[in-house]
Amino acid sequence: MQQQRVLSGMRPTGALHLGHYHGVLKNWLKLQHEYECFFFVADWHALTTHYEDPHGISDHAMEMVIDWLAAGVNPGSAKLFIQSRVPEHAELHLLLSMITPLGWLERVPSYKDQQEKLKERDLATYGFLGYPLLQSADILIYRAGLVPVGDDQVAHVELTREVARRFNHLYGREPGFEEKAEAAIKKIGKKNAKLYKDLRKKYQEKGDHEALEVARALLEGQQNITLGDRERLYGYLEGGGRIILQEPQALLTPTSKMPGLDGQKMSKSYDNGIFLREDPESVQKKIRTMQTDPARVRRTDPGDPAKCPVWQLHEVYSDEGVQTWVKEGCTTAGIGCLECKQPVIDSVLSELAPIRERAQEFVEDPNLVRGIIAEGCEAARDVARETLDEVRQVMGLAYR
Ligand code: TRP
Ligand code: SF4
Repeated sequence: MQQQRVLSGMRPTGALHLGHYHGVLKNWLKLQHEYECFFFVADWHALTTHYEDPHGISDHAMEMVIDWLAAGVNPGSAKLFIQSRVPEHAELHLLLSMITPLGWLERVPSYKDQQEKLKERDLATYGFLGYPLLQSADILIYRAGLVPVGDDQVAHVELTREVARRFNHLYGREPGFEEKAEAAIKKIGKKNAKLYKDLRKKYQEKGDHEALEVARALLEGQQNITLGDRERLYGYLEGGGRIILQEPQALLTPTSKMPGLDGQKMSKSYDNGIFLREDPESVQKKIRTMQTDPARVRRTDPGDPAKCPVWQLHEVYSDEGVQTWVKEGCTTAGIGCLECKQPVIDSVLSELAPIRERAQEFVEDPNLVRGIIAEGCEAARDVARETLDEVRQVMGLAYR
């Protein structure tokens, strides 16, 4: 498991808010300690819907990366890069487009949904139809095992799995596959070879999935075989051809419960957000002027936390003691709304303080950020090129 690669991308929307932090970013912070992570700015994806107003994409990308860093994403553990700076994604997208039936793309739920939702834009474009396949290329080029996404993106990971399967089916059956696999077995040592064969038999003859897992782990531990042999052995294990593109798994990011200032989900398009690098006065003002239970007109009117968006923030930020204080104080008119909001203000400010502080260094030195991105791009390209070389080869494009 430790050796699985994690890949995720975010469209460059500019400054991130608390909803992003409590949803996606905290999850990334956890993952970066557990796996090899690649996180990227999906700038081409932004163009699939916003091709008419591309201004600001690169600035938004920079702002977003600063927010990642400020939130604690560590470029020492995770590679941070920009999609369009790794043009290998585009070549893999093109090559995958050759084998992807149109119907698969037309069936992706977001295709029709987004066209409905973004009616003011003309999304009857080639790029928009192909965008989930571009996402597949993003994922497959890193042979990522895990892809953290929200539930709106699960269908894209599913498409990716189908494309990988089709690709392996078409191109994983090299001539002499069995002989090559048998030869590869000899390279992992006598003891391991016997173990591998036993496990393979158990899986293929008895459907023993535990044996499959053990055998995979055994292969993962092999340091001295080539990438090609490793893939042959993975494929041979399961009875198919060589596994060239690995099927990824969606890692569903729990939907953030972060409410916005109006009680709806926090979202840039609702204009109800608190931004990660927002200054404390502004944060304080936003919360102080937040809508409360409309029934509490006067200080002496009792209220109902269930009808108040401030309560939803208490649910995120306050411990039981404070929550009890709110419930009692509100329903008996024992506390005023400003008083009630103060612990939330304090919690949000103390959550944001270290983030703003970390951001400072990057804001003052954009070259530092550029350097981190450049390094991430290089590391990403190294992996991407390796996959692409192989893809070219099996698709008949190996010129020397
Ligand atoms: N499509 C995703 C979104 O709109 C962003 C994205 C692009 C992505 N490529 C990806 C996410 C690969 C995960 C993996 O949010
Ligand atoms: Fe909302 Fe608190 Fe005012 Fe009650 S006291 S209405 S929970 S802000």
